[in-house]
Amino acid sequence: MCEEKQWNSTQLRRYDLELEQIPRLYYTDPKIDELISLNKPVVITGSNIIKTAKANWTPEYLEQNIGNAGHTVMLSKTHKFKYFDESKVLNKNNPHGIEFTPPTRKTKMKIGEFMRKLREWKPGNDRLYLQQPLNNTIGDLLVRDFINFDWEYINNKQSKHNWGPLTSNLILISQEGNVTPCHYDEQQNFFGQAYGYKRCILFPPSDFECLYPHPVYHPHDRQSMVDFDKPDYTRFPRFKFAKGYETVVEPGDVLYIPIYWWHHIESLMRGGPTISVNFWYKVGPTSLEYPLKDHQKVSITRNVEKMLLEVLQDPKEVGPLLRSMVLGRYTE
Ligand code: OGA
Ligand code: FE
Repeated sequence: MCEEKQWNSTQLRRYDLELEQIPRLYYTDPKIDELISLNKPVVITGSNIIKTAKANWTPEYLEQNIGNAGHTVMLSKTHKFKYFDESKVLNKNNPHGIEFTPPTRKTKMKIGEFMRKLREWKPGNDRLYLQQPLNNTIGDLLVRDFINFDWEYINNKQSKHNWGPLTSNLILISQEGNVTPCHYDEQQNFFGQAYGYKRCILFPPSDFECLYPHPVYHPHDRQSMVDFDKPDYTRFPRFKFAKGYETVVEPGDVLYIPIYWWHHIESLMRGGPTISVNFWYKVGPTSLEYPLKDHQKVSITRNVEKMLLEVLQDPKEVGPLLRSMVLGRYTE
């Protein structure tokens, strides 16, 4: 088998970050379970987890077989697709929302139109990113591929590590060069790469202070405020100390992204479109054992912020109250 790398470092965007490699382990390696138990990322190689997606899923195949129900497509003027929560935006139905200019637009598109726009794309056009949970509108061939994932292996990991139920499988069809900026999710994630190459940069939950998440009530909740392309070190001085781990996933790879781990994901530049499918799992029943884990502290922080907003009502009052609680009392 040819193990030659199918990409080179000129296809990676450049960031002012110190990065270590995420381990790549063959799917039968017992160290995989050690890492998952420790809530540490790992790339699982050589498995059959998404074998049928690796074998079959090309842009052409999906165009023919994904179904014609219409899919959610994000449009962006830049290469960045920073997620935002519409329910937190100020409008006439939501007087306590935040004034906010969305950085991307969400639209519905038939797969044929999406693929045509990808093929005909030229600089100046909006960039496109299809992100759609797999549902009962996908065609028979995709259903068959999905059924033929290695569920025995996946379900075994789910039960061994006490994850909750599988909530969804998102399918992501990206234009080359697109970036999903740094954020964390509140679910365990098996991130499967079906087609093309994606670079994933991860940071542990303990880097919370270095990555400056937007406030919980903000539409960009769970997203870092730091623009990796042009970090503002005056506002975000501790970004210098963020300790990242990176990998480039290739077709067939499955990256474990632990719950509350930060991740930045980019489709390589000049690499053509990419196709991924993820597996999101709820947290299982958790017991509070001391010392608390870093991700549990993030969860506590979120809850405190949410409770404060609930009693104060006005998001504008949350920051000042937190500041007056801490300044001079818990700070030097
Ligand atoms: C995820 C995720 C973004 C991407 O699977 O949680 O953030 O661009 N994916 O693949
Ligand atoms: Fe994510």
